[in-house]
Amino acid sequence: MYKINIEGLCQHLDLGEVSEEFLFNKGMTNRTYYVKTNKNELVIKALSASNVSSAYNRNKLIMGEKIGRISNRYGICGINASEINGTILHYFEEQYYLIFNYLKGIEKKLNEISVSDVINAGNILGKMHNIKFKKHLSLITRIPSYHYGRNVDGKVDWNYYVNEILSKPKQPKWLSLLFSNILIIENLYETSRLHFKNFRSKNKVISHCDVFNQNIIWFDNQPFLIDWEKCGEIDATFDFLNTAIRWSLYINKIGALSMDKDKLKIFTSTYLQHKKVNIKRLRTNFEIIKYRRLYYLYTALNRYINPSDLVDKKRASRKIKVSLNYLTIFIEMDNYLQELIDFIKMEKDRYKRSK
Ligand SMILES: Nc1ncnc2c1ncn2[C@@H]1O[C@H](COP(=O)(O)OP(=O)(O)O)[C@@H](O)[C@H]1O
Ligand SMILES: [Mg+2]
Repeated sequence: MYKINIEGLCQHLDLGEVSEEFLFNKGMTNRTYYVKTNKNELVIKALSASNVSSAYNRNKLIMGEKIGRISNRYGICGINASEINGTILHYFEEQYYLIFNYLKGIEKKLNEISVSDVINAGNILGKMHNIKFKKHLSLITRIPSYHYGRNVDGKVDWNYYVNEILSKPKQPKWLSLLFSNILIIENLYETSRLHFKNFRSKNKVISHCDVFNQNIIWFDNQPFLIDWEKCGEIDATFDFLNTAIRWSLYINKIGALSMDKDKLKIFTSTYLQHKKVNIKRLRTNFEIIKYRRLYYLYTALNRYINPSDLVDKKRASRKIKVSLNYLTIFIEMDNYLQELIDFIKMEKDRYKRSK
């Protein structure tokens, strides 16, 4: 349940009188508002109950913002929640909020991402993976772990979802995509699930964990990283590969998600200038990337059938569409992973020779 009262919150924290307010229609989990007051232009994020339900989760949010501030000192520009009355996490009338200064920049859709943007992203991730964050944090700080997904016991009966949705009076457009890909989903899910069961994160780094186009605001051609919520300790290879794939995506002529292999290589070679990639861990981590998406699909399908206040049918539908679009990427990437491994080896040799 959300109990949002933006005007009341602004009054309570002395942020000024609200003259304009609208909901950014993007987020999957929170409700983020643009708010104009007679003092300032703000972004106010009303946090979903699941994000603040436990002390662990609230600590995760606060840590994310701390990590963001430390990253700033190392040249990674970001927008972090404002500290007001000694805290960044505000509780008002049974609802938690984060408050930011509004940055009027440009947000780029997949097909607007240029090669130089990809280089920027590769630099951000490479730099961040090298920061010794722990040096700046107290010894007792509890650093949250990245959430890869949950282990679902046993097989998922994907056909159940198709039948369940077919039995409803109105069917969503994506149902045919789910239906026609059911065998692929079953196979991808079963293989990746076994990898996930045995997965142990190695070579851990602290990272933003969600560096993609929707979490960057471009201002004067400079990237500003927002949304530090997923921030935590993560397997460096996972974060590298996941982010590299996301920055190589585009929508092709027939409207499907596709991969630009040149961009993937450009991201990779930029990242390699900062940090080595453990090629032996790439395949396993690719399986975990697949598992994470399919787990996401599974939870979204459950939500679609049994919507909640937090994830309504529309949001569940959005999540399902995103996950289904990734299927083609997984198949493309399966064929391309060896080429990427060879490319990384070649880059390593080139780097050694140039030394
Ligand atoms: N400081 C900001 N300045 C301008 N726009 C912002 C700012 N923070 C967030 N937004 C807008 O709100 C949207 C959702 O914010 P984000 O922090 O990414 O939330 P979510 O967790 O829902 O993804 C962003 O995609 C962006 O359009
Ligand atoms: Mg976001």
